[in-house]
Amino acid sequence: MQPHLLPPLPCYLNGAYSTLPDAKVSVMDRGFIFGDGVYEVVPVYAGRLFCFAEHMARLDRSLAELRIRNPLSRDQWREVALKLIAEFDHSTLADGQNGAKTPSDQLIYIQITRGVALRDHVMPADLEPTVFVMASAMKPPTAEQRAQGVTCVTADDFRWKKAHIKTTSLLGAVFSRQISADVGAVETVMFRDGFLSEAAASNVWVVRNGTVYGPPRDHLVLEGIRYSLFESICQAEGIPFELRRVSRDEVFAADELLLSSATKEVLAITRLDDKVIGDGKPGPVCARLLAAYQRAKAASES
Ligand SMILES: Cc1ncc(COP(=O)(O)O)c(C=O)c1O
Repeated sequence: MQPHLLPPLPCYLNGAYSTLPDAKVSVMDRGFIFGDGVYEVVPVYAGRLFCFAEHMARLDRSLAELRIRNPLSRDQWREVALKLIAEFDHSTLADGQNGAKTPSDQLIYIQITRGVALRDHVMPADLEPTVFVMASAMKPPTAEQRAQGVTCVTADDFRWKKAHIKTTSLLGAVFSRQISADVGAVETVMFRDGFLSEAAASNVWVVRNGTVYGPPRDHLVLEGIRYSLFESICQAEGIPFELRRVSRDEVFAADELLLSSATKEVLAITRLDDKVIGDGKPGPVCARLLAAYQRAKAASES
């Protein structure tokens, strides 16, 4: 797509607010040359940032792994995000019946790269990081996907062994996701050495005999913000929750199989490869997690 044909979504680049067609970075940006950067995707409900502190904490962890300093304070990040959220609503929302505007559900995408330098694999010290933030519309699962669950496929986890870093080096994830896209499936559930890791852009949960199981928080998975959220929801709901290695057989024998991510929230997988999972419908644990999730959204503050 030619840059000038991009939609005029509001964005922030290195201190200046503009729109996607006008935002430009150097060809020598290490994000472009090496994928040398990190990112975050923060959901926004009715104009309010959801789990912002948790996303900021994960951003700090990813930056520390790459030895990039965080160029903005938490208050500055919040200020940029809130400004883009308001700008997005201002530029896209139609007036409601009474003339009032309803804040929309959005995603705030944050990307920080190491900055601009002549090409050399060695990490140059003291570069000015490149900071990019944009607002876009949230595209949640459809009503049909929520009601029926979705189909996913499995694949070997061929990504690198630092999956815990939310880096913009995403070719492994792109290849993985394409495996499911090629057959019209919603996600690719990956296994490493016969054990569940995660999906291309989501975490994966197994429900068996009423317990929610997920892979451990280690270097082989990206710890989604929903890890701790589900843990606390399960605790409050009296649903047993356990993190441990989960075998491929256990995945296929699940009563319920779930995806989680900022946009999917929690979404049932009802078919995996050519097998029906459980009774082929989204199950009761999925419904309870989703209901509690909606209450958490309603209670969230910016
Ligand atoms: C590889 C991977 N795992 C898990 C997740 C889910 O993370 P979160 O719940 O924070 O959106 C994502 C989100 O993009 C991801 O890319």
